[in-house]
Amino acid sequence: MDKNTLSITDNRTGKTYSVAVSDGTIRTMDLRQIKTDAEDFGLMGYDPAFMNTASCRSAITFIDGEKGILRYRGYPIEDLAETCSFLEVAYLILHGDLPTEDQLNEWADQVRHHTMLHETTKKFLEGFRYDAHPMAMFVSTVAALATVYPDVRKVLDPEVRARQIARLVGKVPTIAAYCYRHSLGYPYVYPDNDLSYTENFMNMLWKMVEPKYSANPALARALDVLFILHADHEQNCSANAMRAVGSSQADPFLATAAAAAALSGPLHGGANEEVLKMLDEIGSVANVPAYVEKVKAGKGKLMGFGHRVYKNYDPRARIIKWTADRVFEVTGRNPKLDIALELERIALQDEYFVTRKLYPNVDFYSGIIYKAMGFSPDMFTVLFAIPRTVGWLAQWQEMLTDPEQKIARPRQIYTGQETRKVVPLEKRVAHAVV
Ligand code: ACO
Repeated sequence: MDKNTLSITDNRTGKTYSVAVSDGTIRTMDLRQIKTDAEDFGLMGYDPAFMNTASCRSAITFIDGEKGILRYRGYPIEDLAETCSFLEVAYLILHGDLPTEDQLNEWADQVRHHTMLHETTKKFLEGFRYDAHPMAMFVSTVAALATVYPDVRKVLDPEVRARQIARLVGKVPTIAAYCYRHSLGYPYVYPDNDLSYTENFMNMLWKMVEPKYSANPALARALDVLFILHADHEQNCSANAMRAVGSSQADPFLATAAAAAALSGPLHGGANEEVLKMLDEIGSVANVPAYVEKVKAGKGKLMGFGHRVYKNYDPRARIIKWTADRVFEVTGRNPKLDIALELERIALQDEYFVTRKLYPNVDFYSGIIYKAMGFSPDMFTVLFAIPRTVGWLAQWQEMLTDPEQKIARPRQIYTGQETRKVVPLEKRVAHAVV
C-alpha cells in the first residue's frame, strides 16, 4: 500500500477509501467520493474560521507558530529588519528574491514615479468630515483609485498588473499622509521624490512651512523597520480577503480596499489602536494586576496578546521592542511602555496566559512607538496598511497566476427551514425576530 495515503472507513456504509496525503495535507475534494448512496452530495469538511484548512499553496511567507519563526521568501525577518530597506523587502516579497543594486534602483524609480495622487482623488479626500476615522478614509480612497485608471480591470495582463502594483505601493503612503493631514485640518503636502520611501512619507505627514523636509534618520529607520515587519504574514484575515475578492477578478484597487477593510477590525490590524486605549484605561503600573484579573474573569481581552498561528513569542514583537528603544532615545521614553512591560511580565507568568500560549503580538508594542512619534491611535492601522499593501499584492498576484485557483466560494451546511408556502400578509402571525 502507498504509505502516502490515508485510509478512511465510512461506518455508515462499511466502505473503505484511500486518499492521497501530500505536504501533510489531504485534498478535501477527495472526500467528495465518500457517499451513502448515489443521491448523496458526498462528504465535505466543516471548518469555520479556517482553523485547519489550507486555502492555497504559497511561496511568499513562512511562519512556524510553535517556534516563533517568520521568514519572507526564506529570509529570517530578523536579518531583513537588520540589513535591508523596506523597498528592498517589498521587491523580495513581490518578486521572490532580493534585488541587485540596479534592480533596486529601477524598482525605487518605478515606485517614485507613482507617488502623486490625481487631483480628483485629493478633492475626493477633501469631502470627508473633519473627524472621519483615517482608516475609513484610507479604505475608501484606495477603492476610489479604481475610478482613475481605466486599465486597472485587466488583471490577467502581467504588464498591467506590474503597473498597478507599482502604483499602489507608490500611492498608499500619499493616501495615508493625506488622511492624517485631513484629520488635523492641515494642507496636503505633495511627495518629494528626492527622499527615500519612508522619509518621503514623513515629509508628507509632518512638513510645515520649511522649504525642504529633513527626516530624523533614527525615526526614519525605525519606521522603515516597522514597515518591514508588517509587510506580509501569509494567510491572515486581510490576505484572505485580498485573495477572495481578487479571485472574482475584481481590480486590485478594490481588492486592496477590501483587504484594508478586513485589517481595520480590532481582532486584526485594528488591535494596535485598541492596545493604546487599553493602556490608557489601565492608567498606571499599579493597576496592571487588577486589569489582568479582569481579563481572566472574561471581562475583555488583553489587546495585542494572542495569535491564531503564533503559540510562542511573535518574533516581530521582539524586534519592535528593540526598535522602541531606538525611538525613545529621540522622543523620550513614553510612560505607557512601563505599563506594557509590566502587563507582559505578569501575563507571561500567569497560568491563564501560559496554558493558552498567549504572547504579545506585533500590535502590542507598535502603537507605543507610533504614539511616541506623534501619531494619534486612530492612525495606527493606516500605518500598518501601508507596508501590508505589498503583502496583499504579492498574495493577489500569486493567486491569479496559480492554475489551481478559481473563484473562492466555500460550501455551507444549510440549517434553515425546509420548503414553506408563503402565507398572505393578513394571515401571518408574529414570530420571534432573529
Ligand atoms: N486576552 C485574553 N484571552 C485571550 C486572548 C487575549 N488577547 N486571546 C485569546 N484568548 C483566550 C480565548 O478567550 C480562548 O480562551 P478559552 O479557551 O478559555 O475560550 C483562548 O485564549 C483561545 O483563543 P481564541 O479566541 O480561540 O484564539 P483565536 O486564534 O481564534 O484568536 C486572536 C486569535 C483573534 C488574535 C485573539 O487572540 C485575540 O482576540 N487577541 C486580541 C486581539 C489582537 O491582539 N489581535 C491582533 C492579532 S495580530 C494581527 O492580526 C496583526
